[in-house]
Amino acid sequence: MRTVDWVERAIRIIDQTRLPAELVSIDIREVDELVVHIRSLAVRGAPALGVAGALGMALAACRSAERGGDLDADLAVAAEKLVGARPTAVNLSWGVEQLASARGGGAGVEELVKAALAIRDADIEINQALSDRGAQLLAGARRVLTHCNAGALACVEFGTALGVIERLHAAAPLEMVYVCETRPLLQGSRLTAWELGRRGIPHRIIVDSAAAGLLLGGEVEAVVVGADRIAANGDVANKVGTVSHALAAGYAGIPFVVAAPESTIDFSTESGAGITIELRDAEEVLALAGHRVASPGSTGWNPAFDVTPAALVTAIVTERRTIDGRADGRDAGGAGSAANPG
Ligand code: MRU
Repeated sequence: MRTVDWVERAIRIIDQTRLPAELVSIDIREVDELVVHIRSLAVRGAPALGVAGALGMALAACRSAERGGDLDADLAVAAEKLVGARPTAVNLSWGVEQLASARGGGAGVEELVKAALAIRDADIEINQALSDRGAQLLAGARRVLTHCNAGALACVEFGTALGVIERLHAAAPLEMVYVCETRPLLQGSRLTAWELGRRGIPHRIIVDSAAAGLLLGGEVEAVVVGADRIAANGDVANKVGTVSHALAAGYAGIPFVVAAPESTIDFSTESGAGITIELRDAEEVLALAGHRVASPGSTGWNPAFDVTPAALVTAIVTERRTIDGRADGRDAGGAGSAANPG
């Protein structure tokens, strides 16, 4: 089953809020419903959000045609709602913009659907290509650590950081993947561990705060994560907690690799300081699995992402190139220009 797909002029998603207990899908026929499911993280992860954004615009076009609406006005309303659903992952606005510009170029409803399906299909090939590149870069690493979920569940059917891990495992069995549980919503322990388990890849879930000690203790040979937005200078926004792993990896002299498609690079944002970090409901921090555990009356703060400075990134691997983390993201770089982690 694909994480996000197009079935009978509706969007079909795996409901990730129900995993790992149940593998169920939801069919979405209206943009407003899609926005609710994006906000609740039923569909999540930067590449999946990019595809959801593009398919969301196709959905708006189909409904507009069925209702005899004004296509341009309906697409403008849909675009605003979709882009506003989650602010940090640039892929969401990228997917929406791809469709808006197709419409600007004169595309009708059927061409818009085709354009969205092409974005869906390209996601699979792109992630396979960047995963191959990442696995070449980290060849030989047998004990790796990852954060959040950058697997098939964050994309269409093949992951980014977890794609690299799968490719490494296919080349020579991995000894251990350390999976940070990823508080507060547990994308690591719920989703990444589920994906690794299905693929028979050995893994252990750790609390996020165990990672630094593990890295400094020499247990891990590489850290590989995904990204939600990469600024032009190479600063990387990813799930909150990522920068702690980058700091520890840097101190321990372990490669810290970011695996992401080119569409995650936002050349219009100069540095990480310009990236909007989504602030989510503090209740997610104050509760565990929906039950309040924090001291009554205490308040919380819940940024969903943090920014890792480019100086802490060994390399960014995309489908086209390997970028030295310390180089300017606008530099075309090219394969082989990354710092050699070996
Ligand atoms: O809040 P989420 O679950 O959407 O956050 C996802 C992440 O931070 C992922 O690491 C990132 O989107 C890359 S997914 C290939």
